[in-house]
Amino acid sequence: MVARFSPDVRVNVGVVGATGLVGSMMRQLLAERNFPVGTLRLFASARSAGSQVEWNGQQITIEDASTADYAGLDIVFFSAGGSTSKALAPKVAAAGAIVIDNSSAWRSDPEVPLVVSEVNPHALANLPKGIVANPNCTTMAAMPVLKPLHEAAGLKRLIVATYQAVSGGGMEGIDVLARQQEAVTDRARELAFHGDGEFVPAPEKWAVPIANNIVPLNYVLGEDGYTEEELKLRDESRKILEIPGLPVSGTCVRVPVFTGHGLSINAEFERDIDVQTALGLLVRAPGVVVSDVPNALEATGADPVFVGRVRPDRTVDHGLALFVVGDNLRKGAALNAIQIGEVLCGR
Ligand code: A2P
Repeated sequence: MVARFSPDVRVNVGVVGATGLVGSMMRQLLAERNFPVGTLRLFASARSAGSQVEWNGQQITIEDASTADYAGLDIVFFSAGGSTSKALAPKVAAAGAIVIDNSSAWRSDPEVPLVVSEVNPHALANLPKGIVANPNCTTMAAMPVLKPLHEAAGLKRLIVATYQAVSGGGMEGIDVLARQQEAVTDRARELAFHGDGEFVPAPEKWAVPIANNIVPLNYVLGEDGYTEEELKLRDESRKILEIPGLPVSGTCVRVPVFTGHGLSINAEFERDIDVQTALGLLVRAPGVVVSDVPNALEATGADPVFVGRVRPDRTVDHGLALFVVGDNLRKGAALNAIQIGEVLCGR
């Protein structure tokens, strides 16, 4: 049994990290999608506690997540960073709620299912810790596309290069790009009038400036010189698609785009799959739209992921090359979490 709540009852919902980018999107989607909310409680750090936000015509006071009493809640969405989830999710689950966590804290725990709502909702049948993990925003975009191709032809190896938006780094990512873009634009205007010289903004948040640039070192280095983001792509793809040991080589790159993660994917399969067959499967795949030129602006604000540029990859016996884009805040984070909640509510 995957559903935990009857479709005709209302559930008491919490959002931890409710003032952040993803938390705000969660609030919006709960209202937009008519999630069966009984009461909604919102939590953030002590900095925001006591402030009020409007939701569905009500004023809700933000509570301090670290001192709140979570009794009476049925489903609590978390998007407040890994350390907050690590510390608080077990406490909230022990108080009786199912936690749906957007951070990386629980994704590799064998007792925590890692779920994409269209791809492996069956994994929700077993919740030994009362916690469900929501995948990384980059991995997420690829899963609804790769799942039907894997079922048809058996995925054997993945090579992925990403083009990731700054909002994947929260409000801070947006602020850094906006500030640097403004500085670069002002300086370009000055140079047009006054002559020579390059202008390079100081790096903030990422190793090198993000405005007018691309950043091929996305956060922290891990195993074999791969970044943590690249290792998440490997490990999370294996867990969600249920292909232990799937070889995955990722190159995760931050680009000066506010929202919408792009992925250039080369997928090798066990068996032959031609472009027409792949497109036929993708047109019917839930949560997927086939597009001539999938791009970040098209994906922004949209629920599905967009896939296109599907070509044979003739560097291997049975291969496809394709391009995928998804809204990293919607399907990549808040939307999938809410959809997991909907599955638990029998919707
Ligand atoms: P606050 O606004 O009070 O700092 P983003 O990823 O967009 O930056 O958002 C992060 C979210 O996580 C915000 O809602 C932020 O609250 C919340 N947050 C950050 N640190 C903590 C913490 N220690 N406990 C609870 N919530 C936190």
